[in-house]
Amino acid sequence: MGRIKYGPAQAKVTDIQSIVKQVKNGDNIGVAGFTGAGYPKAFPTALAEEIKAAHERGEEFMISLFTGASTAPDLDGVLAGVDGIKFRTPYNGDPTMRNKVNDGTSYYSDIHLSHLAQQITQGWFGQLNWAVVEASSITADGQVVPSTSVGNSRTYLDHAEKIVIEVNSWQSEDLLGLHDIWYGLDALPPNRVPIPITGAGDIIGQQTLNVDWSKVVGVVETQAPDRNSPLKALDEDSIAIGGYFVDFLLAEVKAGRLPKNLLPLQSGVGNVANAVLAGFLESDLEHLTSYTEVIQDGLLALVDAGKCDVASATSFGLSPDYAKKLNENAAAYRGKIVLRPQDISNHPEVVRRIGVIACNGMIEADIYGNVNSTHVAGTKMQNGIGGSGDFTRNAFLSAFVSPSVAKNGDISAIVPMVSHHDHTEHDVSIIVTEQGLADLRGLAPRQRSRVIIEKCAHPDYKEILLDYVARAERNPKALQTPHILTEALSFHQRFVESGSMKP
Ligand code: COA
Repeated sequence: MGRIKYGPAQAKVTDIQSIVKQVKNGDNIGVAGFTGAGYPKAFPTALAEEIKAAHERGEEFMISLFTGASTAPDLDGVLAGVDGIKFRTPYNGDPTMRNKVNDGTSYYSDIHLSHLAQQITQGWFGQLNWAVVEASSITADGQVVPSTSVGNSRTYLDHAEKIVIEVNSWQSEDLLGLHDIWYGLDALPPNRVPIPITGAGDIIGQQTLNVDWSKVVGVVETQAPDRNSPLKALDEDSIAIGGYFVDFLLAEVKAGRLPKNLLPLQSGVGNVANAVLAGFLESDLEHLTSYTEVIQDGLLALVDAGKCDVASATSFGLSPDYAKKLNENAAAYRGKIVLRPQDISNHPEVVRRIGVIACNGMIEADIYGNVNSTHVAGTKMQNGIGGSGDFTRNAFLSAFVSPSVAKNGDISAIVPMVSHHDHTEHDVSIIVTEQGLADLRGLAPRQRSRVIIEKCAHPDYKEILLDYVARAERNPKALQTPHILTEALSFHQRFVESGSMKP
């Protein structure tokens, strides 16, 4: 009970089984959790057992699951594994859940991460029945201290009919003081006021989440780690990508277009975006700041090295080694790390005002600079758009990074036409692969195509891409964005038919 300092909360401590028995078929459940950090550890597995038992009795039992972003095998994985998720939003990275989305068992709505809170508030999905939130402690006055993520917890707690709080003693109690919860977005248009953030480290709200204790059906004590999957080791390609990007930014400083310590950095999820941050570690850059969504190892390393003064995000997304470091040393990050609700960490208003430099991973880009972040061959969901749209559309500079080929060279990351559009050519200024960096600023489509192919395409695909462009440009009446419509998706078609985009 040491972490539950509020009397009425102590009186609500109960076992998870008695809580999940109250969940009904069709319930809407909003849970804490973002990038495998700060998600409830007990509720999902206990609920999955209830669902499995109901299915064995021949009863229908599926729920709708709302999160911050990706979670873990012991949340998405266990619930999807028993065919328990009818509807899922806004982002998923779990392989079992991904299979259920792609085989049609579950509906998946892929939503900009900054948008979901307002959509919940507006009742777009119906009434939210449950909020299940992980806390690192409950204060003496009944406030909830979030753990390693904030995500949509503020909104879920405010709008759910029933609340469950899991107090996880694996999380450091010293996380208190790392969160900044602003309630100003509760005012809806036309009554909204500006978000008063003008720098990445600005504190504008309170350290804890408000809870209406009359809605709390149970407090559960847990002791379980976050997902903390290790990221892939840096390889030659990701080191090259990081190097090109940092060199580009240094040239911008030299040209007087960026300040010496750059502008607040946003770095996307995934191995490649994380690896780009390693490039900053090697550079002479100092007093960097970050206004981003997730603090991965690479960013924490920059903070630890004293190269990044402050990082704002909504979540950690760490490997086991870095998670251990954070757990042992959380108090030392006060003032250097700020975790905010995701509708503020990703808010377009702030991103545009403070001039974020955005860098996100991608599935593929086309020769004109349109980017697909989400779909393999236009039809199968990989993860989701996440915050990449929140940042890309509004950033001062928007970059996408990827190895030039995937799946041992059978897939080219540069294609004639993307098979799904997440980010349009209007929003993408830089594309980087291990082959080089394409600076698209100030270029029209016919200029862009040559730069993207020359700088970014893998040598195995350069010739066929150049041949495609040359033939597309033979139509004298369609030279703004030349395409051969019957061939524009031929790379994908070949991959689907033969397992390779190579002719
Ligand atoms: N076709 C098919 N699969 C592809 C592919 C392509 N063009 N490009 C990448 N992949 C696969 C990789 O093969 C790999 O699969 P594996 O896990 O089976 O090995 C997987 O996607 C991850 O690719 P990787 O090269 O390791 O890159 P990553 O970890 O940096 O992830 C994205 C790349 C696009 C999947 C990831 O950045 C993402 O989900 N982005 C969308 C959300 C986002 O940008 N959020 C950031 C907001 S802050």
